Amino acid sequence: MRRCCRTSSSSTTSGSTAPRARRAERAADPSTGELLCTAVEGGKEDAEKAVGAAHAAFANFKKTTARSRARLLRQLNDLLLENQEDIARLIVAENGKPWKEALAEVTYSASFLEWFSGEAERAYGATIPAANPASRIMTIKQPIGVVAALAPWNLPLAMAARKVAAAIAAGCTVVVKPAGETPYATAVFGVLAKRAGVPKGVVNVITALENTALIGETLCTDPRVRKVSFTGSTRVGKLLVKLTADTLKKLSLELGGNAPVIVFDDANVKKAVDGVIVSKLRNGGQTCVAANRLLVQKGILDAFLKELKTRMEGMAVGGGLDHNSAIGPLISQAALKKVDEHTQDALSKGATQYWQHPASPLTPERFAKGNFYPPTIVVGLTENMKVWEEETFGPLAAIKVFEKEEEVEKLANDTRVGLGAYLYTQDIGRALRVAESIHAGMVGINTGMLSASESPFGGVGESGWGKEGSLMGIEDYVVTKAINIDISA
Ligand code: SIN
Repeated sequence: MRRCCRTSSSSTTSGSTAPRARRAERAADPSTGELLCTAVEGGKEDAEKAVGAAHAAFANFKKTTARSRARLLRQLNDLLLENQEDIARLIVAENGKPWKEALAEVTYSASFLEWFSGEAERAYGATIPAANPASRIMTIKQPIGVVAALAPWNLPLAMAARKVAAAIAAGCTVVVKPAGETPYATAVFGVLAKRAGVPKGVVNVITALENTALIGETLCTDPRVRKVSFTGSTRVGKLLVKLTADTLKKLSLELGGNAPVIVFDDANVKKAVDGVIVSKLRNGGQTCVAANRLLVQKGILDAFLKELKTRMEGMAVGGGLDHNSAIGPLISQAALKKVDEHTQDALSKGATQYWQHPASPLTPERFAKGNFYPPTIVVGLTENMKVWEEETFGPLAAIKVFEKEEEVEKLANDTRVGLGAYLYTQDIGRALRVAESIHAGMVGINTGMLSASESPFGGVGESGWGKEGSLMGIEDYVVTKAINIDISA
């Protein structure tokens, strides 16, 4: 099926640029490989106009009350939920994820709006006891200014919403650049922001595929932009650090992971498998917190493998609009190639294939054109394999067997990134011991889900800087001003 729609290259709320006929962006449906839509390809000039609109709007928006911004966020939350199914259809079409996950992404996105509507009114300053008896010292928190929000394709709406919600709560204005592959749900988000009453110029959406790097560079070097929030790869995150250095922008970076999952002998097998299914197969394995290296203690290995296979066998592979599908396609052919490379590399270095989804090779009549990879379990993961070193971003479950608790700290921490990590045990002491020893920004104990609007999301090491969501999320969007007062007569 061929569908076609257009999104404007810039601003649904700033109105700074009317859509112009230029090279059309092409987004392919990951389930079929067919052209999905076209969208105007924004360029440098559009990025500059969007920044101009955001900069102009900031002059007034920074003076609005926290309560009025909280109301805007609540209104936007309601609109997102009212339009949940329509937005979910767009997410499925552009990203490929299963229907239930797309619905859940809309709820997850809305949860950031609801959360930050509360946080808007809690950006408290402090009063500080001064050493000088004639002094009084207080601090206030003020919005940092124009924010560039660079969002990824794996949770296109939620990641944009997480950034925009914090920005609005703080009183900042934003230029949002969704990933070139997934511009549509974010463009709709911009339209809904306008309907919610967000003032003109406060939320500006700019779309582009081929010009993504150019737009990123424009936003990162423009002195009017004071903060960049990026979710994506560690490689691009490092480039952004260099690009923003000259104008000393504040940066939030939520980058790649290589999550270890540790399953101890004393784990509840069913719970461990439930968690692995969530962390490994959410969005087909395409999240930064996806389980990547499964470390399973010898005594539980057989029971764990049996349960994992049974559960994965029961998960249908298919396009997201088929409501039975539990595992969708990957975003692109390149992604598919990478997962297969990781699988073949592991097999060539001594791992054995324990199971591969029966739909394999995925039957041509149903899957030939989509980016489907058959979910696969391999055992015998070792430190020299690609899947050990880099995140796979796909439905490959690679398992390494270990014997003693003392081994796992070194194994789990054998990476320069540190975003998510998971462990399964019924021993509370062990759970805390190991959680404390793991080099990661987030640890799940007996759960495969780390994502919640109220929980600080972010990593350590080469997984990036800062926390998104939670009571900490607004901090990156404000600057603290100290005010000193002389009260002497
Ligand atoms: C990510 O994959 O970048 C974010 C995942 C999440 O927020 O759950």
